[in-house]
Amino acid sequence: MNEMRSPFQLGGDSTMILITTAGKAGAEAARLLAQRGEPVRILVRDPEKATTLAQAGAEVAVGDLEVPSTIDAAMQGIAAVVLVSLAIPTQELNVVNSAVGAGVDHVVKITSKASADSPIARRRGQTEIENGLVASGLGYTLLRNNAYMQNFLMLAPAIAKTSSFGSSTGDGRIGMVDTRDVAAVAVEIAASPASHRGKTYWPSGPESLSYADAARMFSKVLGRPITFHPLTFEEQKRAMVDVGVPDHIAEMNAQAVTLFAQGDSDWINDDVLSILGRPAHTFEQFVTDFAPEFS
Ligand SMILES: NC(=O)c1ccc[n+]([C@@H]2O[C@H](COP(=O)([O-])OP(=O)(O)OC[C@H]3O[C@@H](n4cnc5c(N)ncnc54)[C@H](OP(=O)(O)O)[C@@H]3O)[C@@H](O)[C@H]2O)c1
Repeated sequence: MNEMRSPFQLGGDSTMILITTAGKAGAEAARLLAQRGEPVRILVRDPEKATTLAQAGAEVAVGDLEVPSTIDAAMQGIAAVVLVSLAIPTQELNVVNSAVGAGVDHVVKITSKASADSPIARRRGQTEIENGLVASGLGYTLLRNNAYMQNFLMLAPAIAKTSSFGSSTGDGRIGMVDTRDVAAVAVEIAASPASHRGKTYWPSGPESLSYADAARMFSKVLGRPITFHPLTFEEQKRAMVDVGVPDHIAEMNAQAVTLFAQGDSDWINDDVLSILGRPAHTFEQFVTDFAPEFS
């Protein structure tokens, strides 16, 4: 079992990969690398939340993306960075600056449908970050992921309790991707970046599904009827706030869901297959693997 150490005590290693946060994709990326026995460091604000990752073999660096000195400390001896966070430009550009200063070779940026004129602030911020990374001179790869299947885990308590879930997605279909695939792609590229430099990928799942399709899949896998009911924008935002999402993030998420309803995320491709050499997880597999959460 690895002890948690201050980043000032971490030893250098030219193959070490830094994961910048331990959220959905970040924690899985760190777990994958640790499981393979490859050197990985993960930056977290609260080390208590990284206990399992530390036990799996990841080095834990305590820091805050708002505090450049803590990023610099975590960046020592790093070859590649998986840049994943809430996509606040100042925070992620702090990481880019730190990576330049430390002579990092490559940054894999977890991003979404970045656009300078998007109605969603987060997507405009993603463009600012992507542009800053490209201009930095660092090796880079952009992963503009479709929406995550794991977002359904926020709805798990409601599905377990009421056998139903609501959303303002309407009939919109989404090529949802499993964050386990996003993490696997990020790790693959960070560990062997040569053929991925300067490239943009659009990881998606293998099928595009509406939330009514998702309800049918939940019913099939869980063995009981699960129903989907439509929500208004305000109801959608309130539902996210009620499960702990901060108000301004719930606003952006609800805006994204409105775009889902308009077909904005109705796209799939085989980027996961081509990078990993195996197919992306299906939604059925996701529900099967996480069934206890929904039951
Ligand atoms: N969710 C999706 O469907 C989706 C789809 C495509 C792309 N993306 C992109 O993926 C990225 C991550 O979004 P997400 O929704 O999946 O979130 P997430 O990675 O699950 O969670 C964000 C993480 O950031 C950490 N964090 C927040 N502020 C921090 C700070 N100042 N310093 C250090 N760590 C901090 C949080 O840790 P604490 O526990 O300390 O709060 C949390 O672990 C974004 O760029 C997003 O656009 C998401």
